[in-house]
Amino acid sequence: MRNTEAGNEDVLILAIETSCDETAAAVVKNGREVLSNIIFSQIDLHTLYGGVVPEIASRKHIEKINQVIREALKEAGVTLKELTAVAVTYGPGLVGALLVGVSVAKAVSFATGKPLIGVHHIEGHISANFIENPELEPPFVCLVVSGGHSHLVIVKDYGEYEIIGRTRDDAAGEAFDKVARAIGLGYPGGPKIDKVAKLGNPDAVYFPRAKVGGNEYDFSFSGLKSAVLNYLNGCRMKGQEICQEDVAASFQKAVIEVLVEHAMHAVSEYGFHKFAIAGGVASNSGLRAAFEMECAGRGIEFYHPSPIYCTDNAAMIGTAAYYEYKKGIRSGMDLNAVPNLKLGER
Ligand code: KG4
Ligand code: ZN
Repeated sequence: MRNTEAGNEDVLILAIETSCDETAAAVVKNGREVLSNIIFSQIDLHTLYGGVVPEIASRKHIEKINQVIREALKEAGVTLKELTAVAVTYGPGLVGALLVGVSVAKAVSFATGKPLIGVHHIEGHISANFIENPELEPPFVCLVVSGGHSHLVIVKDYGEYEIIGRTRDDAAGEAFDKVARAIGLGYPGGPKIDKVAKLGNPDAVYFPRAKVGGNEYDFSFSGLKSAVLNYLNGCRMKGQEICQEDVAASFQKAVIEVLVEHAMHAVSEYGFHKFAIAGGVASNSGLRAAFEMECAGRGIEFYHPSPIYCTDNAAMIGTAAYYEYKKGIRSGMDLNAVPNLKLGER
């Protein structure tokens, strides 16, 4: 396997992702073939504190990143010399955490002479859909729901996005995490609510579905979170027992209904026949089932990454970087971490 910057040879990208609490590296061939996808999750460490502690995340990334990169190269059977380029998430995310990945990627790029490509984290999440769906091409509508973002995005072309809706307050994943904490499930909340919701009655408690004025595609989840907290306080004051399963199922239903309604509205208004979901919350089984049903009923192709490509990983960064690479986009040695990087900005 030989590689040059030009020509038709295989494009092998080493991708690095350290924007939050996963230390990850992957080798991706020609954009959609994942040769390795190594993820060191710090979840156990942060669980002790009920959420991600930025300083601890940065320190752990420093400790783990070289080992994770070595494993990714080894599993892929690729040497540093054989790489075409090095890609890294440079925002948005926790600044200290991002800096670890950016610094290491720069070092590898400098030492090997391979080009460096800075990637937007959300672009990575969206691109995760390309990994297992070889037939998927833009344009399509994508709902990105993670711990930090809830965006409705028109993917016009590779690397070309229009955000048509966003959250006004909490992200969907943030709401999952806060509600999980309130009902005593602990961190990380999303997967725990997903699990116990299966045992509960989604119609046990009615929680409000927030409508926001101004933009019909925008979301708001802080009111829902407050409604759950008020319900829990009310129960405690009345000495009523709280059924974790029912509250989880009812909360999850409220989130899903809003996400499905907004997303399907966008798909039909914009006249698309392809719809994808991305981000950590996209691994929610209830959400996937709801979209599966809605899309089938409307004749829309529904795409979703496997759960391992929904939550933070480096393979999705390698996929996004491939399309940037093809366009000739390269980053310089002045690449910096940008904690609030906007989608579509460079
Ligand atoms: O995309 P991600 O790994 O990191 C960010 O970029 O934020 O998303 C993490 C978020 C967390 O809030 C987590 O609770 C949520 O995704 N999440 C889920 C599930 N798995 C992860 N939320 C609902 N159901 C799940 N199964
Ligand atoms: Zn993420």
